[in-house]
Amino acid sequence: MPATLTGCAVAVLQTADGRAKTALSRAAAQAFRDAQAAGRPMPMGDTAPPPRPARPTRPELLSPRDVPRRRPGTPNGRIALLHAIAHIELNAVDLHWDIIARFAATPMPPGFAADWVKAADEESKHFNLMCDCLEAMGSHYGALPAHAGMWRAAEDTAGDLMGRLAVVPMVLEARGLDVTPGMIEVFRKADDGRAVAALEVIYTEEVAHVAYGSKWFHFLCGRHDLDPKDVFHDLVQRYFHGPLKPPFNDEKRAEAGLPPDFYWPLAIAD
Ligand SMILES: [Fe+2]
Ligand SMILES: [Fe+2]
Repeated sequence: MPATLTGCAVAVLQTADGRAKTALSRAAAQAFRDAQAAGRPMPMGDTAPPPRPARPTRPELLSPRDVPRRRPGTPNGRIALLHAIAHIELNAVDLHWDIIARFAATPMPPGFAADWVKAADEESKHFNLMCDCLEAMGSHYGALPAHAGMWRAAEDTAGDLMGRLAVVPMVLEARGLDVTPGMIEVFRKADDGRAVAALEVIYTEEVAHVAYGSKWFHFLCGRHDLDPKDVFHDLVQRYFHGPLKPPFNDEKRAEAGLPPDFYWPLAIAD
């Protein structure tokens, strides 16, 4: 295990295989917590992250419009849905380690890194849960094509920490809060208790990831004496391509520190 937190982050980012990446991610999070508990916090270091993370040769990555759509009423449709979520979770592992390494030179309180280590650890668990569900259905991560371009938000905001927080946790992960209850319903109707339980873990833990985003976004607004709502609108318009899509999960978004006047002005009617 690398001795610094940025070293750990880069080691995860450079691991291609999904199960290997998440195993390393979870071990790094454990090492970080152990060092903290022993009173010798892991130093940040200054290992630079790669422009994009290593990924396995499978799944094949396609433009979103070329990824075949399948109806969730069929077993193959549910496999496709779980596969798409697994792909999002693997990307999230990399996003959380990337924010730690990419912005290591920006002075932040120690809780900033600790929050993203915890989030990365949870995303790793989420990926493994989705893989377990796929394998229980006779499939696996890599069996279907997946969306290319998931790293776009990271690239667009590689030089802008507030932009990264606005777009990744406060737009993309908040979207997860909107759509997960419907997915849980799909698997409940299909009597797939394993997938329901896994998605409920994801749903519960994702609220905190959005909340970390909102917390540190507001912190930086305070540091720079900026109005959070106005800056959020500016940054999302600059870095996020397209309007936000209702319906929104107003209650869970509020729980995560995202008030309606942040996202409604950026929405179009469905
Ligand atoms: Fe997740
Ligand atoms: Fe997340």
